[in-house]
Amino acid sequence: MILSLRRAEAADAAAVGDICYRAFKAVADAHRFPPDFPSVDVATALLAGFLSDERFFSAVAEVDGQIVGSNFLDERNAVSGVGPITVDPALQNYGAGRALMQAAMRRSQERGFPAIRLVQAAYHNRTLALYLKLGFQVREPLVCLQGSAAGKSTAGYQVRPATAQDLETCNRLCVRVHGHERSRELADAINRGTARVVERGRVTGYATSIAFFGHAVAETNDDLKALICASESFPGPGFLAPARNAELVRWCLGEGLRIVQTMNLMTIGLYNSPAGAWLPSVTY
Ligand SMILES: CC(C)(COP(=O)(O)OP(=O)(O)OC[C@H]1O[C@@H](n2cnc3c(N)ncnc32)[C@H](O)[C@@H]1OP(=O)(O)O)[C@@H](O)C(=O)NCCC(=O)NCCS
Repeated sequence: MILSLRRAEAADAAAVGDICYRAFKAVADAHRFPPDFPSVDVATALLAGFLSDERFFSAVAEVDGQIVGSNFLDERNAVSGVGPITVDPALQNYGAGRALMQAAMRRSQERGFPAIRLVQAAYHNRTLALYLKLGFQVREPLVCLQGSAAGKSTAGYQVRPATAQDLETCNRLCVRVHGHERSRELADAINRGTARVVERGRVTGYATSIAFFGHAVAETNDDLKALICASESFPGPGFLAPARNAELVRWCLGEGLRIVQTMNLMTIGLYNSPAGAWLPSVTY
């Protein structure tokens, strides 16, 4: 079997979307967890978006000219983020995943990113082993939470749509908590209309969305709770929270949310322990 890698193109969307859906579904079904993507169409639409956005690096692996897998690197922020990486279930365990990870890591290094991050499903032993062997380390255990969203307000906290005028304040908050900003990612969410800020006289937190693909940063857990409460739904399998933030997770459970699965935030390179309240996206 001769494996080769190349940069992905817009025309690859259908092939990589199909593999992405089937790869996640196969491993999730085997462990009786819900799949990351509900359909081929949802996976294809997400990856088509990445393929047409030059701020995302993408690579495909091929065997005999047939696409067998793909990987993506989000280059919008100061820290790069890997994923989703998927290999056709029929061709897993032959080295394609390792080669696709190494391509993303090489790219990140060439572009001068100080760190790479990703989120790994804790039940998936193969990815934990692969990423550890490639030099990543586990930084934070996460819980993925799902349930009925309240869509309600919290006394003393005003949650409203974020605007371009909020960017600078939100970036400052992100730097304070994480040591770096996620400005372009937040700007995308503001343009999409999903971003929210929470205020107590001043902005004390923001969320690109309370969702699998969204992240949030706040001064306190109570600010995060107001953002979670105000959410109308939690798109995707659920939203992620650091399991070590026991007070926040306990509150979520008290609100009736359920833990869908546990995951791990993994990093290579520069990492500052967050100083504040935060929710990661499925990238980091
Ligand atoms: C993750 C994925 C892309 C890996 O692709 P792959 O082609 O099967 O992976 P590879 O064969 O290149 O590498 C697997 C490595 O894990 C090792 N491995 C697998 N299971 C292991 C275990 N239980 N313990 C230790 N090592 C293990 C293999 O030996 C191999 O190591 P090596 O590179 O040193 O030889 C693929 O399994 C996939 O598509 N999974 C479903 C989607 C998914 O979960 N994506 C990741 C989201 S974070």
